[in-house]
Amino acid sequence: MQDPTQLPEWENLLALSRGSSSSNIADLFDTNPDRVKGYSVSCGGLYLDYSKNLVSDEVKNTLLALASASKLESRIKAMFQGERINITEDRAVLHTALRSREKSPIEENGVSIGDAIERQRNLLQIFSERVRAGDWKGSTGKTIRTIVNIGIGGSDLGPKFVCQALEEFAHPEMGFHFISNVDGACIRSLLNRLDPETTLFIVQSKSFTTQETLLNTSAAIRWCEENLGLEQAQASTHFVAVTANRAEAEAFGIQSAQIFEFWDWVGGRYSLWSSIGLPIALMVGYPRFMELLNGAATMDDHFRSAPFEANMPVIMALLGIWYSNFLGADSVAVIPYCERLGLLPSYLQQLDMESNGKSVSLEGKQLSYTTGPIVWGQTGTNGQHAFFQLLHQGTRLIPVDFIATVRDDLSSPAQHRVLLGNMLAQSAALMLGHPEVGAPPHQAYPGNRPSNTILMGRLMPTNLGALIALYEHKVFVQGVIWNINSFDQWGVELGKKMAKELLGGESGSNTKFDASTRHLLDLIEGHSGK
Ligand code: F6P
Repeated sequence: MQDPTQLPEWENLLALSRGSSSSNIADLFDTNPDRVKGYSVSCGGLYLDYSKNLVSDEVKNTLLALASASKLESRIKAMFQGERINITEDRAVLHTALRSREKSPIEENGVSIGDAIERQRNLLQIFSERVRAGDWKGSTGKTIRTIVNIGIGGSDLGPKFVCQALEEFAHPEMGFHFISNVDGACIRSLLNRLDPETTLFIVQSKSFTTQETLLNTSAAIRWCEENLGLEQAQASTHFVAVTANRAEAEAFGIQSAQIFEFWDWVGGRYSLWSSIGLPIALMVGYPRFMELLNGAATMDDHFRSAPFEANMPVIMALLGIWYSNFLGADSVAVIPYCERLGLLPSYLQQLDMESNGKSVSLEGKQLSYTTGPIVWGQTGTNGQHAFFQLLHQGTRLIPVDFIATVRDDLSSPAQHRVLLGNMLAQSAALMLGHPEVGAPPHQAYPGNRPSNTILMGRLMPTNLGALIALYEHKVFVQGVIWNINSFDQWGVELGKKMAKELLGGESGSNTKFDASTRHLLDLIEGHSGK
C-alpha cells in the first residue's frame, strides 16, 4: 500500500496532463482510424465504448501501468478471498460471494459463509413464492398484495432502483412502495392510500438501530394496530425484517421465523444481492432475482480474470482517475437514456460517494490528492432540457457516462430510435463542438468534452446485474489506487450522533451547540404546532 503520488507512473501522468498528447479527442480519431475498436470492451451483455475520452494511447498505457503499480491484482484477490480489507471495521468484504455461482469455501468466525448464503437464499425463495402465490395472509385472512419496504441508504436504494428498472417483470397483482425518509409526510400519505388488511411491511436495516427506519416502522405498526385491532402488530404476519442484527429485530418484536438475515461482511450499499433483495424477489420472482445475481457474477468473473487493458471496471476506474486527479474534474454525470434506469444516479451516489468520499489513507494519513468525485445525473432526454447547457458550454470539465438499452419492448420502435438518436447526438456534440468561424461567442460550442457510452440489450435482470457490479468494481479499483478504505462510512456518524443530542436536549439550553444552531432550534420549536 502506497501513496500513489510517489509512484513514477503518477509523475508520468502528471507530465502527460501538462502536455498536448491528449488535448483533442477528435484529433485522436483522425490519427487512429481503429480507435473505436481499441477503445471498446464487452462483458455480461454490456458494451462500453470509451473512445470519446481525452485519452491517447500513451495516457491509456500509463494509466494501466499505474493500476499495476498500485498492486491492484493482489487487492482484487484479497477481496474475493475474504481478507479483512475493511480495516477500520475489521471486516471482510464479500458481497461477491452472495452472487457467486459456486458455493463459497470461505469461513467467517468458524461458520461457512457458503452454507449461510444457501440457507438465506432458500428462505427467500420459499417466502417470496408463498407471497406471490397469494399464500401469505394478513391478520384478517386476506391475501397480501401490497409490499412496503421500510429502510434507508443501502437498505432502500438498491432494491428500489432494481424494482423500478425491472418493473416490466412485476407481479401483475402486487403493488410495491418504498419509504425511507424520516419525513413523516411520506409514510402518512402512503398509508392513507393503502389497505392494512393486504399490506406487508419489510423492515430492512442491517443494524436495526437506524432512527429513520425505526420511526417509520413504528408509524406502520400504529397504523396496523389502529386499523386492524391488533396488539403488537409487529409480531403479526404484516411485518417481516431483514437484518444483520437478529437479536435487535427480535427484541423489537418481529417473529423470529419472519426475520431474514445477512452479515457484517456485506456492506449496506452492497447488500441488494443479499436478503435485502427480498422486495426484488417478491416483485419479479425468485428465478429472475437469481438472474440478476448471475449477471453480477459474470461481471465478477470478468473483473477477476480479464487483463487490465480489456477489463471494463478497471478501464472505467482509470478514466475517472485521469479526470479527477490529472485534469481537474470534480464530478461525473451519469445519464441513462432509459426512464426505468432513472434511479441509477441516486444509487451510484451512495455507492461511489459513501465508498470513496474519504480523505485519509489506509494508514490513516491525510491525503494530498483528490479522491471520490461528486456523482450526479438524471435521465436523458429530460436532462437535455435542464442541465445539459452546462455540460456543453459551462466552464467545468464533466465526464459523462451515457447508458442505453438498444432494444426496449415497452417503447415503440419509432420513439426508441428518437431516444437513442438523442443520446448519440449529445455525446457527439459534446466531443465535436461547433467552432463555427465568425459565430457569436454565445453560439460557440467548444467541444472536446469526454464521455463513455454503455449499450445493453433489452433491459433484463442479467445485464442489470452486470451493470451494477461494473460500477461496484469501478469504485473498488479507484479506492485501491487512492489507497483508501472504500468499505467504511465513518463520515455519516457524527451527524447522526449530533441529531440525537440535539433532539434529546432542552430547547435553547444545549450549550454544546453553536449559537446559530441553538437559535434555529429555538425558532423551529417556537413554531412547531403553529
Ligand atoms: O447512514 C449510512 C448507513 O449506515 C448506510 O451505510 C446504510 O446503508 C444506511 O445507513 C442504513 O443502515 P441500516 O441498514 O443499518 O439501517
